[in-house]
Amino acid sequence: MEIDQLDPARIPGHVAIIMDGNGRWANRQGLKRNAGHEAGEQALFDTVEGALELGIRDLTVYAFSTENWKRPPDEVRFLMNFNESLLVRRADELDDREVRVRFLGRRNRPVPRRLVRLIEDTEALTRDNRRMTLRIAFNYGGRTELLDATRQLVEEAAAGRRRKVDEDAIAARLYDAEMPDVDLLIRTSGEQRLSNYLLWQAAYAELVFTELLWPDFDRVALRRAVYDYQSRDRRFGGAVDRPRPSASTAPTLPPPGAP
Ligand code: IPE
Ligand code: IPE
Ligand code: MG
Repeated sequence: MEIDQLDPARIPGHVAIIMDGNGRWANRQGLKRNAGHEAGEQALFDTVEGALELGIRDLTVYAFSTENWKRPPDEVRFLMNFNESLLVRRADELDDREVRVRFLGRRNRPVPRRLVRLIEDTEALTRDNRRMTLRIAFNYGGRTELLDATRQLVEEAAAGRRRKVDEDAIAARLYDAEMPDVDLLIRTSGEQRLSNYLLWQAAYAELVFTELLWPDFDRVALRRAVYDYQSRDRRFGGAVDRPRPSASTAPTLPPPGAP
């Protein structure tokens, strides 16, 4: 799959990915789950390169959900340390590539303070980059995000600072008010569910599911997903009347019950 097989006029602006299947990838090779998380790093960075090549403006990846705290303490600890080390090792590279990094999620306990500080440093380092925005959903849950936005609105209303609540008021109180709606949402590993990801922003996203496990995903797999996306008819609830010219000459079905 080459880039020139894609229509440059219909590249999705915002691609979101549920990076799933690390544990299965590792276990299939007789390794512990954490080895799968490690292997996922190069998949992420190849995908970032692929997104830059395609001119995708926004890429949002799911790294740790509000439900992932249920995992064994070992794995949770590994994921906290791993994400910390990833930021230490890779922040400059993202900055060199003119990628702006932002985090979506609650930044309070139990996220380690050191990780929160690194998150803030990375956001500050890359804040003026404009080529692409990479958002990392970490300690993120779509319901929590909507709950946090709702609480803010209720507080504003109680303080007499707000009378009207509309969609724009909610959207402006999500974790990143500048984040556009998702055009294409990809989930790896064959699971076909949202797992609490971007519930508001993905309302009209095109969904692409692939059997590839996350560590096997790469820029070519991203191109395939974009190719699939370009074959979709996005209607947003609307309708266009397009009778086919041949319809009037097509043979009509016999009435029900006819011999
Ligand atoms: C996704 O891979 C990474 C995280 C959720 C952190 P998993 O760890 O969910 O891998 P599987 O789905 O168990 O194979
Ligand atoms: C979703 O994957 C979260 C991330 C990829 C970070 P999970 O593996 O946690 O989702 P479920 O449990 O299969 O729904
Ligand atoms: Mg999983």
